[in-house]
Amino acid sequence: MPHNEEWKPVTVKSKRPKKTIKPKKPSKMVDDDIQQAVSSFVAIKNTDGRQLFLDHAQQLMDAKSIENELNEENDKETKHFDSLSGQIKDKTSHLFVTGDIRNGDVVKNIRDSIGSVDLVFTSPPYNADIKYDEWKDNLPFSEYKTFLQDSIDSCDELLNEGGRFVINIRDIAMGTGERYPIIVLLHKLLCKKRNYKYRGVHIWYKGREESSFAWGSYRSSKNPAIIDLFEYVFVFQKDGKRKQGQDDIQKTDFIESVIGVWKIRPVKKIFGTGKKNVAQHPCPFPPELARRVIKLYSQCGDTVLDPFGGVGSTAAGAIKAGRSSVSVDISAEYCDVAHKRIEKEFYNSPMQLSVIRTK
Ligand SMILES: C[S@@+](CC[C@H](N)C(=O)[O-])C[C@H]1O[C@@H](n2cnc3c(N)ncnc32)[C@H](O)[C@@H]1O
Repeated sequence: MPHNEEWKPVTVKSKRPKKTIKPKKPSKMVDDDIQQAVSSFVAIKNTDGRQLFLDHAQQLMDAKSIENELNEENDKETKHFDSLSGQIKDKTSHLFVTGDIRNGDVVKNIRDSIGSVDLVFTSPPYNADIKYDEWKDNLPFSEYKTFLQDSIDSCDELLNEGGRFVINIRDIAMGTGERYPIIVLLHKLLCKKRNYKYRGVHIWYKGREESSFAWGSYRSSKNPAIIDLFEYVFVFQKDGKRKQGQDDIQKTDFIESVIGVWKIRPVKKIFGTGKKNVAQHPCPFPPELARRVIKLYSQCGDTVLDPFGGVGSTAAGAIKAGRSSVSVDISAEYCDVAHKRIEKEFYNSPMQLSVIRTK
């Protein structure tokens, strides 16, 4: 059919008999609209016209099914979130532990108080000389590797079989212009040593707005410094059978989340104060990053562990995703900020907060 030929619906009078028909059982009842559509279709004599008719009918059906799905989605969403009061309805619990994740007592305390966890999501120190409250972030590289290994071992003790271990990190700057590809080490520690499966990576793209310029290498081919506007979110899965649970991720959220690149703005800087940000921590990640990971990789009633919890961004993401959480940090100050922040931001959500100090 030529492109410019306009399709006009053909209306045909129904040839249904005039006698009264007893209504059939609802499941067998022939809908008037369908009857009308079939008659119209039959009345179209040429194949192109019929095809056009079918395409049009398909479009209408697609639109209807999308509308139905969205309505269903809204209904489900109101179960988790009361849009009038802004209250999250899922009852969750959040534990803040001050201590070193490598310490056996920390692991024992968590186990005694909540048992095991279903997901680990974290962002460890990057050995990038960040000025943390308690942690020296410039270890010799061999010591940094041991630090990651010991921390992973503690998390593994708490993680259920089949649970996901998700790590936000970037390649490690060696201080010589060289970078260490961190996936090599993670693969060795998790997959080779502990039989985890590597499931893939999301790229957290922060947006061009974040760029700062390395003027030292401006217009020079000698050593142009690559400006990272992204970080990795590596996904591993522990060996064994994953427990059967109930999923609650919404369709649109799922479609956005399974895409490999996530554009999420970092935590806001406080204007005019150099590196300070609203979270009172040198390198927090945005709660939306945590929420997305948690919603995609856990189920209703699950608990997520962040062994380097900082100021509670994972706990905030967990509440938004309707999950419980455990956050560990070596700094009592950060744990305190985390606890207070969650109390303040989610004051009207039904949750239980508790604290353990191991040092
Ligand atoms: C990259 S930051 C994580 C920030 C966190 N995602 C947030 O949004 O607030 C790393 C955190 O690990 C903590 N840390 C470093 N070594 C630790 C250890 N051995 N055990 C527990 N926490 C540690 C630091 O105090 C720091 O807060």
